[in-house]
Amino acid sequence: PSALLRLDPARVVAPVSRRTFGSFVEHMGRCVYTGIFEPTHPTADADGFRQDVLALTRELGVTVVRYPGGNFVSGYRWEDGIGPVADRPVRRDLAWRSLESNEVGIDEFMRWAGKAGVEVMYALNLGTRGVQEALDVHEYLNQPDRTRLAELRRANGADKPYGIRMFCLGNEMDGTWQLGHKTAGEYGRLAVETARALRAADPDVELVVCGSSGSSMPTFASWEAEVLEHAYDEVDAISAHAYYEPVDGDVGSFLASAVDMDHVIDSVIATADSVGARRKSSKRLNISFDEWNVWYLRRFMAERDTASTEWPFAPRVIEDCYTVTDAVVVGNLLISLLRHSDRVTAACQAQLVNVIAPIRSEPGGPAWRQTIFHPFAITARLARGTVLRVELEAPTYQTDRYGEVPLLDAVATHDTGTGDVTIFVVNRHQTDAVTLSAPLAGFGGGLRVAEAWTVADDDPSATNTAEHPDRVVPRPAGHAEVTGGALHATLPAQSWTAIRLA
Ligand code: AHR
Repeated sequence: PSALLRLDPARVVAPVSRRTFGSFVEHMGRCVYTGIFEPTHPTADADGFRQDVLALTRELGVTVVRYPGGNFVSGYRWEDGIGPVADRPVRRDLAWRSLESNEVGIDEFMRWAGKAGVEVMYALNLGTRGVQEALDVHEYLNQPDRTRLAELRRANGADKPYGIRMFCLGNEMDGTWQLGHKTAGEYGRLAVETARALRAADPDVELVVCGSSGSSMPTFASWEAEVLEHAYDEVDAISAHAYYEPVDGDVGSFLASAVDMDHVIDSVIATADSVGARRKSSKRLNISFDEWNVWYLRRFMAERDTASTEWPFAPRVIEDCYTVTDAVVVGNLLISLLRHSDRVTAACQAQLVNVIAPIRSEPGGPAWRQTIFHPFAITARLARGTVLRVELEAPTYQTDRYGEVPLLDAVATHDTGTGDVTIFVVNRHQTDAVTLSAPLAGFGGGLRVAEAWTVADDDPSATNTAEHPDRVVPRPAGHAEVTGGALHATLPAQSWTAIRLA
């Protein structure tokens, strides 16, 4: 099969938002303990952070990290995690039925974020807590001095306020599994009151209200509409969450997961804009797609021991081992996020280390890159400048879940400073390569392939493991060249490819 990609430098979607390359650290499983933090590890620094994981985090190109949850946050008392470590309480984490030692709290995490060079997106507990606790943690984090909590932070070693800008008003409050789950009306009221209070303290905060925890929720879209009837004027963004997995071996549908992500984004935008229209508001809300990834959720649900009476510390929870096919899907989800850069201004892959993560680490042992690490790292490095709207003429195929879908999906970025154009493209065909042509006349000639990377393999089920950490790595894409004023590339079956033209 062959396909044609049309690109035009004038067809700009929006600037690439660096916050698109966000990640997520939740106090869950081994994301924090033996993930980012392991004082006894041979690579641990003076603060107990694993430097091997820090190096991989930087290489991944992560820009912003959501913290400290997730479902965890809805039962979390932030003040348990400050002050002398020896005095901190051990608590039950009801979300993941484990023990939380509180050895890592906000001050430690901010130190880690500084070393990783990432912004922090702080999630507030609106499950078991409310307006006052949100104000308290904000005061601890952002008030310069003189107040009780600002002075407490300074006494704890952080003289300057952290200046956190983004706050999530709770997590997945539509889910019955959420501690303190609420109806849309109850949550909308709490969200708007919390938002007003935070803005009174700090007009510069950027507030993310909870959208649905997934598009399969029965209240999807009506939840957003009702919550925004309360909170529209007070918030900057609404969250979206989506996880994908192959169901009953249906790889064709799985490879088309980005079709669903496009639909989720379009639906949330339509719903938010319709509330805005009813309010006669000129304000437009953005989406913070602050949980997305491939997650073998059905396996997790089937294996979960709901009768357990144990309270383990940092247990192995959803340490999914990712395949080449998963990496292609992750690359495609990034394409979907980028193409919506006019409205999706932040996104967090869930999560960073061990828990459904691009980075894996063993206690006392190595850290390595999962297959899904590679499309993320390359996209974060190469997506520069503005996002271009592209048009694809490609064959289609039939899926059980999404009907007829295109074989290819693509997006491009254009850095007007350097002139670089980068094309990100997936081939969803399970067995056949597709040849791609992209005329480049609009860019004035002279563009050549500067670098081209493909993630694909003769065995799409191949994975990276502690023993074989580099079984799957990006390979220089063969057959990508500019001739006759057009890019010509051959895209292997089930592949994700990035081609930078300079
Ligand atoms: O990322 C894992 C979990 O998925 C998060 O804790 C929760 O918000 C979502 O349901």
